[in-house]
Amino acid sequence: MESGINMEFRLISGKDLRNVWKLQKEYVDEKTKLKEIKELYLKYPKLFVGCYIKNKLIGICIPGIFDKEIYVKGIAVEHNYWKKGIGSRLLKLFEKQLKSLGKKKVTVPSADIDWVEGFYLKNRYKPIQFLIKVKREKLSKDYKNKGYKILNERAEGKYKIFYINIGKYDPKLRERLKILFNADEVIYIMEKKL
Ligand SMILES: CC(C)(COP(=O)(O)OP(=O)(O)OC[C@H]1O[C@@H](n2cnc3c(N)ncnc32)[C@H](O)[C@@H]1OP(=O)(O)O)[C@@H](O)C(=O)NCCC(=O)NCCS
Repeated sequence: MESGINMEFRLISGKDLRNVWKLQKEYVDEKTKLKEIKELYLKYPKLFVGCYIKNKLIGICIPGIFDKEIYVKGIAVEHNYWKKGIGSRLLKLFEKQLKSLGKKKVTVPSADIDWVEGFYLKNRYKPIQFLIKVKREKLSKDYKNKGYKILNERAEGKYKIFYINIGKYDPKLRERLKILFNADEVIYIMEKKL
């Protein structure tokens, strides 16, 4: 970590939600609505963690909820500050907060980029499943007979989403599955026991 930069890792205050939203939209999901961020904050204020430099929010880690489980909905650091350990420290603080709420594990859908997966692996997350998202019109009829057990299928608009269990990390497998299932997205679901 570079010396001389005075970073502060702490809970994000309610007045910074617009800045959280900006970082989330710029780096994680441009479709995120401010309303959604505000609603999550009302439910989980203790899981909104940030990195501040001179009181300016330059990094966030925030929760989402799916199937009653909390996951990392967004982690982002302003580009100028990448690779200084800030993302890892945000993740650690998020995990600590989650643990203090009595949670035993945390999951994250990783962006499908090798080095983002590397970021989670370095932080001791383990790949447990692939999330596969395919346009329904592109899904072949025999997708259940491709040698993988299809789990937790659901429809989301024009997409079908399902999961398959996996063993060890293999970035080439992600690309192979994309072709095999004609998928728009194949994403590692990573998990860490707290
Ligand atoms: C992912 C992100 C939060 C990482 O933040 P960061 O502060 O740069 O991360 P760290 O400095 O803690 O990185 C820890 C390790 O992750 C890996 N890593 C992180 N950024 C990397 C990069 N740009 N290229 C290659 N490896 C990288 C490295 O293994 C790094 O360890 P090292 O510095 O010893 O090589 C940041 O890159 C970001 O905001 N990305 C855009 C948003 C995003 O992709 N979020 C994840 C969505 S699931």
